[in-house]
Amino acid sequence: MITIVGSGKVGGAAALFTALRKLSDEILLLDVVQGLPQGEAMDLNHMLSEKGIDVNIRGSNDYSEMKGSDIVVVVAGSGRKLGMTRMDLLKINASIVKGVVENIKKYAKDSMIIPVTNPLDPMVYLTYKVSGFQKNRVFGMGGMLDLSRFMQFIHQATGFSRDSIRALVIGEHGENMLPLARYSTVSGIQLTSLLSKQKLDEIVQDTRHVASKVIELKGATVHAPGNAISAIIKAVVRDTKQVIPVATYLDGEYGYSDVTIGVPAVIGKGGVEKIIELDLDSKEKELFKKGIESVKTAISDLEL
Ligand code: 2OP
Repeated sequence: MITIVGSGKVGGAAALFTALRKLSDEILLLDVVQGLPQGEAMDLNHMLSEKGIDVNIRGSNDYSEMKGSDIVVVVAGSGRKLGMTRMDLLKINASIVKGVVENIKKYAKDSMIIPVTNPLDPMVYLTYKVSGFQKNRVFGMGGMLDLSRFMQFIHQATGFSRDSIRALVIGEHGENMLPLARYSTVSGIQLTSLLSKQKLDEIVQDTRHVASKVIELKGATVHAPGNAISAIIKAVVRDTKQVIPVATYLDGEYGYSDVTIGVPAVIGKGGVEKIIELDLDSKEKELFKKGIESVKTAISDLEL
């Protein structure tokens, strides 16, 4: 069973894509708002019925129903509003996520947790510490979403099929995000040989800031995060060993410890089965470090 805590737009979209990919027979949507998860579940089940997909989606306000979950996705909390950075949400969302994680510990202690709530990297740290779960069982969704956006910009800039694009975005899911042009290709052809330095710099900047643009235009980011969540769930459930950037706990990797940030990891039935350490150049290292410092400052403000 897969549980999604938070049944707003992103929670609903995560349930939608997870069901369409048939990643579990049962999906539970939880929320503190009475009626919301139940209504969302009904609406989704109606859609699945036409499609002939036998995935059952339930909605509830009762945390005890998450018993037996294999994966718990945590989307609960406030979303970014126009003009806010992700870090602006730290205080308000920390107490919400803490409460959710205490319930996961109580009712789904054998699960894996995928935090999604912003600011993502500090929320993964909080989740890891409060849950007491092994580090491979807590990994946040941020990099996969940033990567979706970077791939779209690569597609637009080259005009080549989305299907041939392989790329990577690591670091903070925030202001110091690190889209790695050097580690991105179109069917094996280095992106750095396909686009000018100026164009690359432009799409790197666009990748960092495009979420704000979506929020300005439609109020929230919904489909891309919902789908990115289901992409990570797929790697776990199908044990694909796909290399995906996730926010996870570093214990010496990249030269840092006791911090959580986006790094490429092998994802399979064991969760984070291996963190892949890249050889970053001095500019990339500098930005990665800025992300670490930003996350560490936020972590030091958390009451754990
Ligand atoms: C996003 O990147 C707001 O973190 C959210 O879509």
